[in-house]
Amino acid sequence: MSAIPYEGIPLVKGLPLVGNLPKFLRDPLANARSLEVHGNVVRSRTFFETVTLLGPDANQFVLHDREGNFSSRGGWYYWIDAVFPGAIMAMDDPAHKHHRRIMQGAFKRSAMERYVADMGPVIADVLSGWPSGTMAVFPQIKALTLNIAARVFMGMALGPEADRMNRAFIDTVEASLALIRRPLPPFGMWRGVRARRWLVELMRSKLADKRAAEGPDLFSQLCHARGEDGERFSDDEVVNHMIFLMMAAHDTTTSTLTTMFYCLARHPEWQDRLRQDALALPNPQLGFADLAGCERTEWVMKESLRMYPPLTSIPRKAARDCSFGGFQIPRGTPVGISPIHTHHMPSLWTDPHRFDPERFSPGRAEHRRHAYAYLPFGGGAHLCIGQHFADMEVKSVMHQVLRRFRFSVPEGYRMPYQLVPIAKPRDGLPITLQAL
Ligand code: HEM
Repeated sequence: MSAIPYEGIPLVKGLPLVGNLPKFLRDPLANARSLEVHGNVVRSRTFFETVTLLGPDANQFVLHDREGNFSSRGGWYYWIDAVFPGAIMAMDDPAHKHHRRIMQGAFKRSAMERYVADMGPVIADVLSGWPSGTMAVFPQIKALTLNIAARVFMGMALGPEADRMNRAFIDTVEASLALIRRPLPPFGMWRGVRARRWLVELMRSKLADKRAAEGPDLFSQLCHARGEDGERFSDDEVVNHMIFLMMAAHDTTTSTLTTMFYCLARHPEWQDRLRQDALALPNPQLGFADLAGCERTEWVMKESLRMYPPLTSIPRKAARDCSFGGFQIPRGTPVGISPIHTHHMPSLWTDPHRFDPERFSPGRAEHRRHAYAYLPFGGGAHLCIGQHFADMEVKSVMHQVLRRFRFSVPEGYRMPYQLVPIAKPRDGLPITLQAL
């Protein structure tokens, strides 16, 4: 049977002019659910008319993509090119394959061992300034992850230069999400483009030193990374990749740690279990060899990412005519998949709205029910290259936090969440910390 033409795909019109955008921004899970009523291939308008493909088979079709049906560049270009030109996520093959091979060199085991060793003292330093009592934890986590990035990505000591870089960096990230897309003062895109220029200058001023000798930081590792045939990045490529890597790492890891704080504050029995594990490890700062001893922290991290994936949807553009679910998808069609929707499908997950980290234990392994049931880090060729880095950073922070503090939220508190563009609390997440 031949596939039904594009026009036959169910269309959910939403409100006049704005379509489904307000609903998507308010609650992407509820939005995906309202599309699902019409099937697993649905047209709707958020920023522009998009075909949403729902469910694990759809995720596999779009991300596994051996036929080259989809363009990541087409999906991301609009959002990131002005402030993150040359980003690997907005590349398609063959350029993507070439860049990914070289970049992989900065994530090899020997480099990872040094990154985790360098994180420990920064975390200890920052946590020693956290007061007992109630504080909005989200801005504190954001400052912590920025300081980790200054040290581990750039090799910088904490201080005025790192502070200035962190501010410039926040402006670039905010610009990538700005609704006004032209660089008009005083709006976000203008601040972002200006901040990017400053970051480029900063990185360029350090390039010669980083090239001269291989250091433990990610910047230096990128300068010295080689592909299988000895190919390496040019200076411009190193700078572009550095700026993008910092952005890709920052809000996502901050979001994950924030969600974990929330979940552990609401479920003190899990907080106690993780604290027992943290105290059972010999070192106050986590080393590479200790990572295997953080199994239950990993379940909690996975469960937090399942319930609140930092990227609730992943965009692509059809690069060729193709079809899915009995419908034609013509070349040039914007296509989106919805990890947050898949992560809450009752056919895949037991009681999906319940916080239940043990679903990731080897005995239950619900995430293995389908190769694309669980995708907080995406999948296929663009699978997050920093997945293990994020894992190390989250475990390192949690290890030290749990050994120093008990933390709680008031009985009945529910975190007001903004899920788009990246999951974060609207109220900063007030947490009460008690030093141990
Ligand atoms: C919990 C934290 C993180 C989450 C949830 C996350 C999520 C994702 C997702 C969903 C993608 C795929 C996007 C797509 O297919 O269009 C991605 C790609 C990427 N991530 Fe992450 N990420 C995280 C942390 C990091 C870190 C720490 C780094 C760097 C150190 C990083 C670097 C990248 C890069 C470079 C890509 C693009 C890879 C490519 O196109 O080949 N991410 N990430």
